[in-house]
Amino acid sequence: MTRPLSVALAGLGTVGGGVLDMLQKNADIVAARAGRPIAITAVSARDRNRDRGLSLDGLRWFDDPVALAHDPAIDVIVEVIGGSDGPARRLVEAALAAGKPVVTANKALLAVHGAELAALSEKHNVTLAFEAAVAGGIPVIKALREGLAGNRISRVAGILNGTCNYILTVMRERGREFADVLADAQKLGYAEADPAFDIDGIDAAHKLAILAALAFGRPVAFDAVHVEGIRHISAVDIAFATELGYRIKLLGIARQTEAGIAARVHPCMVPQASPIARVDGVFNAVVAEGDFVGRVMLEGRGAGAGPTASAVVADLIDIARGRATPVWGAGSGALSSVPSVGMEAHLGAYYLRLMVVDRPGVIADVTAALRDEGVSMGSMLQRGRSPGEAVPVVIVTHETRESAMRRAIARITELETVLETPAMIRIEAA
Ligand SMILES: NC(=O)c1ccc[n+]([C@@H]2O[C@H](COP(=O)([O-])OP(=O)(O)OC[C@H]3O[C@@H](n4cnc5c(N)ncnc54)[C@H](OP(=O)(O)O)[C@@H]3O)[C@@H](O)[C@H]2O)c1
Repeated sequence: MTRPLSVALAGLGTVGGGVLDMLQKNADIVAARAGRPIAITAVSARDRNRDRGLSLDGLRWFDDPVALAHDPAIDVIVEVIGGSDGPARRLVEAALAAGKPVVTANKALLAVHGAELAALSEKHNVTLAFEAAVAGGIPVIKALREGLAGNRISRVAGILNGTCNYILTVMRERGREFADVLADAQKLGYAEADPAFDIDGIDAAHKLAILAALAFGRPVAFDAVHVEGIRHISAVDIAFATELGYRIKLLGIARQTEAGIAARVHPCMVPQASPIARVDGVFNAVVAEGDFVGRVMLEGRGAGAGPTASAVVADLIDIARGRATPVWGAGSGALSSVPSVGMEAHLGAYYLRLMVVDRPGVIADVTAALRDEGVSMGSMLQRGRSPGEAVPVVIVTHETRESAMRRAIARITELETVLETPAMIRIEAA
């Protein structure tokens, strides 16, 4: 057999540990599929003395990960440090400039600096692979960039953050509030100590920006993604969603519209019968719609050592085989310049929950605000009568423009009989 592919692993955390484990345990099938053995020969992390439960015997240690890029004995760099800047970015840039292929799991880096990195990869004619960056073990990058390459994609959507999906699932199953479930998820290791990236939708937005670039063949545009997280979702809205035949999911959705690409991450109500509504717990799913293939849905584990290693090792096998694809599916010169569309232009149905004082005339004021802004009401639910006290009122609208909906909500919020800012959740056909 040919000489092993010599790989440097920068980062020995969850993902790095998984990659080492997989390359050891599955060395035989990896070598067969790669046409040569794939061997980790050098590693870098912050703390050399930390007990990682991994054997690092025989591996060269680098305190400075960027130095890996300049080592002539290393063929490929795996960057699993994380972060859109700092050592991860410096390492990836140095490796590409030195002509070394890079495999990364770093969605933040790709979403924020993906255009420059693609240019660098092209300039030096070297691979930058990132299957693990989106939806962990689900081979969604390969699916969009290669398997569906002949299609015009009209929409790509998915459950892209397992932490949020887990929290929303437990809230629904146990009827519990967000803050309680988040605290438990942190104890169980399903949510980070600082959970903001996950629960505020930023992680999902990084992934959606990557998927949208691949699906629509255009430069990655993270800043154009509208982002909302799940902090404001309450148990009462989840219960109403169930009553109305919906599930609440944090979705990332990118769609081709007449005016351009609309990309958004926010909680959605999706019909209970839709396949994506049934993806529960830490699982991820991605749906793509192509003009020839129709609808494709992929589901699986979006995080964790094993699934992420599975994606990293697949990229290493491609590199060992010499299989290469431009970072965004087409060369920079062939990418489309289709513009992005803002959220105000969104057209869809809305769920609105108000807490109102239960007294005559209140509903008339609310419906007048909706009517004045051209928002047409589909249905209304009111639970429990307690004259003079706060009761929830739920309104489901027909298809309406986001800008009109926002104006109507601003007016409704000002009504003296409306006690809190209304809860608004967009309804998505899924
Ligand atoms: N965890 C997942 O399930 C998952 C899934 C998909 C994608 N990803 C992505 O994969 C990447 C890694 O995630 P992770 O969960 O494995 O992170 P992690 O467990 O926090 O591990 C990060 C590793 O990077 C090392 N590191 C940090 N700063 C460094 C520096 N300046 N120089 C050298 N090494 C440094 C750390 O060293 P020490 O160990 O010495 O502190 C640690 O080994 C991130 O981009 C993440 O978004 C993760």
